[in-house]
Amino acid sequence: MCGIVGYIGNKQAYPIIINGLKRLEYRGYDSAGIALFDGKKIQLSKTKGKVVDLEARVAEEIETKGSVGIGHTRWATHGIPNDVNSHPHCSNSGDLVLIHNGIIENYASLKTELINRGYTFKSDTDTEVLVNLIEEIKKQEDVKLGKAVQIALNQVVGAYAIALFDIKKPNELVVAKLGSPLAIGIGEDEFFVASDASPFIEFTKDAIYLEDEEMAIIRLGREVRVRKIKNDKLVNANIQKLKLNLEQIEKGGYDHFMLKEIYEQPTVIKDTYRGRLLANKGIIKLGGLDDNISRFTNADRIIIIACGTSWHAGLVAEYIFEEWTRIPVEVEYASEFRYRNPIITEKDIVIAISQSGETADTLAAIKLAKQRGAFVYGICNVVGSTISRETHSGSYTHAGPEIGVASTKAFTTQITVLTMMALEIGRVKGAIAQSDYMLHLRELELIPGHVEAALKSNEKIEEIAAVFKNAKNFLYLGRGVNFPVALEGALKLKEISYIHAEGYPAAEMKHGPIALIDDQMPVVVVAINCNHYGKVVSNIEEIKARSGKIIAVVTEGDTEVAALADYVMEVPDTPETLTPLLTTIPLQLLSYHIAVMLDKNVDQPRNLAKSVTVE
Ligand code: M6R
Repeated sequence: MCGIVGYIGNKQAYPIIINGLKRLEYRGYDSAGIALFDGKKIQLSKTKGKVVDLEARVAEEIETKGSVGIGHTRWATHGIPNDVNSHPHCSNSGDLVLIHNGIIENYASLKTELINRGYTFKSDTDTEVLVNLIEEIKKQEDVKLGKAVQIALNQVVGAYAIALFDIKKPNELVVAKLGSPLAIGIGEDEFFVASDASPFIEFTKDAIYLEDEEMAIIRLGREVRVRKIKNDKLVNANIQKLKLNLEQIEKGGYDHFMLKEIYEQPTVIKDTYRGRLLANKGIIKLGGLDDNISRFTNADRIIIIACGTSWHAGLVAEYIFEEWTRIPVEVEYASEFRYRNPIITEKDIVIAISQSGETADTLAAIKLAKQRGAFVYGICNVVGSTISRETHSGSYTHAGPEIGVASTKAFTTQITVLTMMALEIGRVKGAIAQSDYMLHLRELELIPGHVEAALKSNEKIEEIAAVFKNAKNFLYLGRGVNFPVALEGALKLKEISYIHAEGYPAAEMKHGPIALIDDQMPVVVVAINCNHYGKVVSNIEEIKARSGKIIAVVTEGDTEVAALADYVMEVPDTPETLTPLLTTIPLQLLSYHIAVMLDKNVDQPRNLAKSVTVE
């Protein structure tokens, strides 16, 4: 849940590391630090705050010379965000400097042992324990840095992606991974290390993604040596060609990544079905699904596990899978699933959904499901991510890098993949009528155009945001497949504007939340043209009768709800099962504009991080 960057080569390390940290700030942004080696001594600077604060601190206190260095942007786990707890951390001798993303669970007992041996600690972090443990092993066992790291990592319990160097051997970086991601960029006479490839994308397209329990010694003038941490075996590491480009990770003229990502949805939904959906031929081709189709058609049950927005996509899938495949579906929070004693059989299929592919709870739930014999299918956005590798099979969404902490395009592309899966399984199983199948294929192809049309309401939504930006609470209501959209709309508002919001199934309102309604309460209702339309109209009447303010998402041309609601946001007409791909758009824009008007940090909301790689 932090971002790490390292460089060793013939360029100045400082600008590479600082720019890299800015690109990784989505992973954590409560403090930041950098350590450079200028040939004589360590230049270390750390501060509470963001990478821009670090830049200011660096300008005041250190020289930025040196062609080896490491940097860190933090999301605090052990110890509050302050200057001292920021990474990098040095060993007691001052020789070793380490950055770490993850948690060392047994740090307390290791720390006691080190204190008994005379070590002292400045910070409250588990990371300072690790760097001193490595130092102690190096001394006691009289081994090189790589070996000391390996011995130390065999003693720790927890998760890590680490990078460190020894100022006495500054031509070498040592890195290791378990549970948190780590990529090594291979340039000409230079190497990069980072939590993802974005910090080095303009320098090289060649990268090694370390697997769990692997470490690498990166030495100038030598090939990168990757080894297994447990048994020291050399690994034949696969050098991948990166497809990522610089444009994808920049704001491209938008004020915020979130807005850029909202506007990318027509393109990325199309990218997600391109080559997989051939509507005129009546074909859906999803490699991972096709190879395992009989597992799906014979499954007794599908269990979907995910967290946050991905969990909401899972809830949408529950409706559409049950509708088209007639397979019972359960949707579980990964964090709950992993700690109960779930009943799982070999005829169950588990679908794990995760944008980052690194969410710790989802990963642990996958491991549990696999242990109990289930077939696990992953839906991830980040190529090569841990979850995409841990699952038996899967499909990628093609959303491109999602940098705004609030998920937008990940949600709609996940629903796109899940929709294609449900249609295909239903067709092979004979559970969906051919005419229905064909209709939905054709309609799915029209979705990018419909999303574009929905985005045209942006200015109107901005005006609505201005009216309600000071509300203290919001209620979001939806029915059927749009109930999860209500949950997602409420989550978006909460996480970026810090306004309390709750999502509810519209009919549940009268079982409690209706007590909250008064003339101060904006109620966002998804009231599109569908099976439940009449029922939702009645729910709106109930809110009006209690003076609530209605902001309704309606189908283009709607007059009935439009006459009742205070404000409407229109989306084009589409079959009900596909409506979440459209109704979610105005809700994303509404929360975005409210947060901007409240002057909140839209892309980096407080207390959050993009991928939650700790429990
Ligand atoms: O990377 P994942 O999809 O596994 O992440 C799951 C949640 O942490 C994520 O969706 C989170 O809720 C977002 N901040 C929502 O906008």
